[in-house]
Amino acid sequence: MSQDPGPSREAVISANVSEHAQIAIEYEARTRELATSPALWDHWYFDHLRTAIHELTESEHGRSILALDALGGTGKTALFLQQHGVDVILNDVSPEMTDVYRRIAGELGLDARVELTPIESYLEESTTPPFSLITASSALHHLQNYEQVIQQFYDQLKPGGFLYTAWDPLPRRRVVRWLGKAEYYLKRMGDPSAALRGVRRRIGRRRVARAQPVVDHEFHKAIDDAALIDVAQRIGFVVRVHHRNAGGSLRITKPLWTRFHAYTSFALLLQRPYTA
Ligand SMILES: C[S@@+](CC[C@H](N)C(=O)[O-])C[C@H]1O[C@@H](n2cnc3c(N)ncnc32)[C@H](O)[C@@H]1O
Repeated sequence: MSQDPGPSREAVISANVSEHAQIAIEYEARTRELATSPALWDHWYFDHLRTAIHELTESEHGRSILALDALGGTGKTALFLQQHGVDVILNDVSPEMTDVYRRIAGELGLDARVELTPIESYLEESTTPPFSLITASSALHHLQNYEQVIQQFYDQLKPGGFLYTAWDPLPRRRVVRWLGKAEYYLKRMGDPSAALRGVRRRIGRRRVARAQPVVDHEFHKAIDDAALIDVAQRIGFVVRVHHRNAGGSLRITKPLWTRFHAYTSFALLLQRPYTA
């Protein structure tokens, strides 16, 4: 039986570029706020990064640490790392997203080393593993073949190096759908103009996406973290941190998300062992 090969890599990347032209506008204010408000770094997302930076600083004995922020977008992670003494190369396919990164890095007096190319081909080019840390935030579900990219990440990490991935959506259990719906209606009741802003945002994205046909900017609706761990361990990674994040954005409903283990995303800190 012949299998549908799916859309070509070029079609997928072109869809990602058109979608993210609009998303860049939405991300800019938030990225600037995150980059300039250390109080916001008191969050599990940055705690796991700090763990990696701390261990690498000890093992590298004062040598500089080079990180790759893969599918780094507007630089939320890169800007944090740079402000913690890490040198960063940010990879992305979207000129608009990376322009935001360049702009904010410039405002903070930081370098912006950008590789504007699909991650799959960028990782093919390099032959010696140069990175001590690779980060992929809200990234894997955008990739057609993320298992293959995880193998490429492994090959491009120095022994002892870390891969940190977070914010990919988990498969939505029924309790997540129910709580999500309840919050949606509560928010609409409390702030009708927020609902209007949401509709406007969606129309804006559609308008941009119509310029080029959207195939699927999120290649996978969800990523099963247990299956991902299995893949990573088969490649050779050791799991250092596995964290599931309960959803919820309203103060009154937030405890319910935690109580019912309504997890919406996960984080994984993986390490390439010193001896393989
Ligand atoms: C949801 S955004 C995440 C951005 C950033 N990591 C963050 O957490 O804010 C996904 C990013 O992946 C980029 N992207 C999608 N496919 C890509 C590919 N094959 N190679 C490099 N970047 C890609 C998009 O342009 C977009 O900036």
